[in-house]
Amino acid sequence: MTIVVFGSINMDLVARTPRLPQSGETIVGYDFTTIPGGKGANQAVAAARLGATVEMVGRVGGDRFGKALRESLQAAGVGCDRIMTDSGSSSGVALIEVEEGGENHIIIVPGANGRVNAEDVSRMQPDLQKAKLLLLQLEVPLDAVIAAAQSAQKAGVTVMLDPAPASTTLPNELLAEVDILTPNKVEASQLVGFSVENLEDAEKAAIALQKRGVRDVIIKLGGQGTLTATPEGTIHTPAFPVQAIDTVAAGDAFNGGLATALSDGRSLQDALTWGTATAALSVTQRGAQSSMPTQTELHQFFNAHELTLHRPDSK
Ligand code: RIB
Repeated sequence: MTIVVFGSINMDLVARTPRLPQSGETIVGYDFTTIPGGKGANQAVAAARLGATVEMVGRVGGDRFGKALRESLQAAGVGCDRIMTDSGSSSGVALIEVEEGGENHIIIVPGANGRVNAEDVSRMQPDLQKAKLLLLQLEVPLDAVIAAAQSAQKAGVTVMLDPAPASTTLPNELLAEVDILTPNKVEASQLVGFSVENLEDAEKAAIALQKRGVRDVIIKLGGQGTLTATPEGTIHTPAFPVQAIDTVAAGDAFNGGLATALSDGRSLQDALTWGTATAALSVTQRGAQSSMPTQTELHQFFNAHELTLHRPDSK
């Protein structure tokens, strides 16, 4: 079944540096690249490379980045008919610094993403009729995200929200429409108002977020894996130990892997392993969309880790 992604499409302008600069400091980087990104588009590419049928809904600008961004999505097999080229705007961009070891800083300038609105929600209605999941993030205007979530619930489609970039002010009106919420440590901390650093904090945060109306809360803890709170209890999924060279879009890879497995009818436990493995593979490659693994690479990774995943029909 189809996964619909309603969200951002950015061109990432990436500088690699020995370390991240301090405030007021100038440092010399050693590499510069432009790589297609955007949290929405990254999640769409991650899922499509793993074999899912994916439709992307969003906007690019009428500039050369817009053309390149559409081509990157098409090359990954993502359906692009619901992406509008907004000639009145430039494409979204992200200024990214990546230090050795893979940690990063990101500044986004929304451009066309900031003009996503109710018209785009209307445009995705036919896709919702055949969709199993709607993936949302917070790089397009909040009103549009809320309207998209409400439409999906009306159509009986599972809503997964990645609350990124971090926000302290997510309305309960939105959380009440969310089936699966996937914050990282920073985003979870901002949402609950206390620091989330370890599994114990994550469990408290997840339960607090469930009280605000979300069914399943999955907190992404980097090297500590994920902590998931469901109405039936909590699940800790450990991370796979890998040598990270670039963590940009690791969270998007996780969401793409998780969504693909769920859309294929796998259990939440298996889907968490898919997400974790997809993220592990992505941090071993540079860039955002360029780091998303193929289905073959994921299967090779599972074989290398001697993992046998239950098929949906053997649950
Ligand atoms: O999650 C990583 C993404 O965040 C980057 O690709 C960048 O475009 C920003 O949206």
